[in-house]
Amino acid sequence: MRPFSALDRIAEWSWLDKPASALRDTVFALLRNRRFRDVLHGVWLGHPLHPMMVQTPVGAFLFAGVIDAFPDRGAGERRAAESLIGLGLLTSIPATLAGAADFAQAHEEQQRTGLVHAVANGAALTSYLLSLRWRSGGAERAGVLAGWTGLALTAAGGLLGGHLSYHQSTGVNHADAVPHVAPEEWTDLGALTELRDRVPSRRMVGEVPVVVLRDGAELYVLADRCSHASGPLSRGTLSWQSESSGNSPCLRCPWHGSVFRLSDGGVEHGPATAPQPTFHTRVVDGHVQARVRRIPGVPAGG
Ligand code: FES
Repeated sequence: MRPFSALDRIAEWSWLDKPASALRDTVFALLRNRRFRDVLHGVWLGHPLHPMMVQTPVGAFLFAGVIDAFPDRGAGERRAAESLIGLGLLTSIPATLAGAADFAQAHEEQQRTGLVHAVANGAALTSYLLSLRWRSGGAERAGVLAGWTGLALTAAGGLLGGHLSYHQSTGVNHADAVPHVAPEEWTDLGALTELRDRVPSRRMVGEVPVVVLRDGAELYVLADRCSHASGPLSRGTLSWQSESSGNSPCLRCPWHGSVFRLSDGGVEHGPATAPQPTFHTRVVDGHVQARVRRIPGVPAGG
């Protein structure tokens, strides 16, 4: 069996659902503040935070492993290895929090893999804690072995993390293709009178499903599939409660509650971090027409 098909099998392990949902509930209980969750998702960065946060602990653990590989290392090198492990443990705290926030908003199959990823990383951190303890107690050899065990587990956790992103599309922008596959010319979306005020409705622009919303004289057209995980925004709810957008209307995704500004598709609340693609709109002979904007994140309409 190829290693990657073996990784794919994890997503089929339904027996993981119970512990995964227990972990998800724990994460929600601990991370109740939405603004804090937004910070952990990376909404402010416009990119998932977790992949960036893991760089420091992984790098520190790797360097500690390299130093430990020298048999003739002296007291200075030993101290350096211990400091690197300490740095890795410390910086793994925000990385773990960011990963936990993303995990809690993933779908079932992603959570199964995510749970194994978390167990591997948890075992790695435990190994490093033991490594530090044994080193400080004078058991240098046991400490080095625990460090290498931690490094192997970190690599396994990293492999699963990559699999979560590249095979299971966790954290990727699910709406990225829209500006490339939607037709460049204006597309008729039906009569303006068919649109009920402030009621989202689904239409097609070529092969691309879009959500159309009329708010008085304003018309908004956004890609229908949410950038977080393809949830149908046309089944979402309108919101004017956003702080940073003032009274500008927003649309809330029905799946995990991401909130997008209708004016430019910008993210008000995660877990989405990428803006929702928007479309130019116009009305010709009483018919609404839309044309995709090539660059997401700019105001819609006009
Ligand atoms: S699909 Fe997750 S917030 Fe929209």
